[in-house]
Amino acid sequence: MATDGAKGAAMGEHEAVLIAKARDRSALIGIVGLGYVGLPLAVEFAEAGYTVLGFDVTRRVVDGINAGHSHVQDVPDARLAKLAKAGKMSATTDLARLKEPDLVAICVPTPLSKTHDRERRADDPGGAGDRAAEHDVPGHDP
Ligand SMILES: NC(=O)c1ccc[n+]([C@@H]2O[C@H](COP(=O)([O-])OP(=O)(O)OC[C@H]3O[C@@H](n4cnc5c(N)ncnc54)[C@H](O)[C@@H]3O)[C@@H](O)[C@H]2O)c1
Repeated sequence: MATDGAKGAAMGEHEAVLIAKARDRSALIGIVGLGYVGLPLAVEFAEAGYTVLGFDVTRRVVDGINAGHSHVQDVPDARLAKLAKAGKMSATTDLARLKEPDLVAICVPTPLSKTHDRERRADDPGGAGDRAAEHDVPGHDP
């Protein structure tokens, strides 16, 4: 059976730091795509004590979240406003800030057409995965 020391040696430095930051809630969580999946996930992380930085390409969504207004039925304004006011939850359209979070969850629409071909959005032709690669997001494996 492996001891904690042996497990620590097998674990990469990045993973060990991330686990420590997860334990003490100092990890900055990035969520890309703040829709029906991403916004509730972001709120769960923030209510669990993490600081969350959300990313979205839609300015209206980002401005609403920063003002404490939810566009998702599952997330009441009061819940979001409390987190935004406390500085636990904020959002940005600036994808260059993708280098800031310790980990990133991508919750954007699946870029596949009905025939399963890859679709590219006119407003984001590279897609969120390519953006993550461009900004050298820690742990991203293109
Ligand atoms: N909604 C569901 O019940 C559900 C269930 C299972 C799986 N999913 C999957 O979860 C993913 C997200 O679905 P959803 O319902 O939350 O979508 P949504 O349309 O509600 O939200 C997606 C958000 O991502 C933003 N966005 C799009 N491209 C972006 C980019 N490149 N960078 C940053 N933001 C971007 C949009 O502006 C939008 O606010 C999809 O892949 C979907 O298939 C959804």
